[in-house]
Amino acid sequence: MKVVSNIAELRALLGKWVGNSSSIGFVPTMGALHKGHLSLISRSIKENDKTCVSIFVNPKQFSPDEDFDIYPRDLDQDILTLDGAKVDLLYVPRLEEMYKPGSLTVITVPVIGDILEGVYRKNLFSGVAMVVAKLLIQVGPHRLYLGEKDYQQLCVIRQMVDDLDISTDILACATIREKDGLAISSRNVRLSDQQREVAPLLHQTLLEAAEAFDNTGDELVTAENSTRKLVERGFDKVDYFSICDGLTLGAIGPKTENIRILAAAWLGNNRLIDNIALSTILTRTAGGNNN
Ligand code: PAJ
Repeated sequence: MKVVSNIAELRALLGKWVGNSSSIGFVPTMGALHKGHLSLISRSIKENDKTCVSIFVNPKQFSPDEDFDIYPRDLDQDILTLDGAKVDLLYVPRLEEMYKPGSLTVITVPVIGDILEGVYRKNLFSGVAMVVAKLLIQVGPHRLYLGEKDYQQLCVIRQMVDDLDISTDILACATIREKDGLAISSRNVRLSDQQREVAPLLHQTLLEAAEAFDNTGDELVTAENSTRKLVERGFDKVDYFSICDGLTLGAIGPKTENIRILAAAWLGNNRLIDNIALSTILTRTAGGNNN
């Protein structure tokens, strides 16, 4: 595996591959790699001639009161993991090159980026949009692999790629979970034993909400009941519980074909997010779904 940390080297290598008509798959990450990241990476390896992974803990997507300083970092272990996974290229951009002094451009994706997570994490989506746009321009991949774990991030990036006429295909990958249903996340290492026991109940509550909504068709009452249930089950606070249109993340309307349930809840200082498609219950009954 080649490891590069500047744009010139990155472009030289990718230029050679593209010149040989190789297809390039790209998986952007913030490192502390786990099975969720690896599922995106192995799919990219299957579907492309070359796979590039980036590791960059992007300061722009954290607000000052968030966990940038203590975000888990383990580059040495990540390099071993990626090498073992047969990744072709690891890009670890340097902060000074990614955000050059004096740069002025900002990218925001209003409306879809302002709701849900956007209400609680003010810098998140403008920071994500900025870094992903830059990475896509730097890497120039044919395919971009993103996890449904961060469903709103996926929607925001889709919108941005479409708005900016970036010619990269976006592939959404199902959420990888622990056996008890907890969505795997780099931040899960911070859960205490007691919080770790409560954490899977977020997924459980989403599944129960899907069933309740299927029966009643009432998204508001289902969301209210689910919020109450999360608190009864040991969550300290619920930022949102939303049953919404899976494309716009806004209210369900007569034309809604795909419904998504998204939630964010706190266990102590740990904020968990998760989401499912409404059809999860039906597909699960029909024989299992990782979603
Ligand atoms: P990070 O949290 O490291 O996630 C990198 C990619 O892995 C994202 O597309 C995320 O949705 C996916 N992912 C994380 N956990 C997953 C799981 N359990 N199952 C499936 N996919 C999972 O998301 C980011 O980094 C950053 O915001 C980034 C896009 C790199 C921009 O800085």
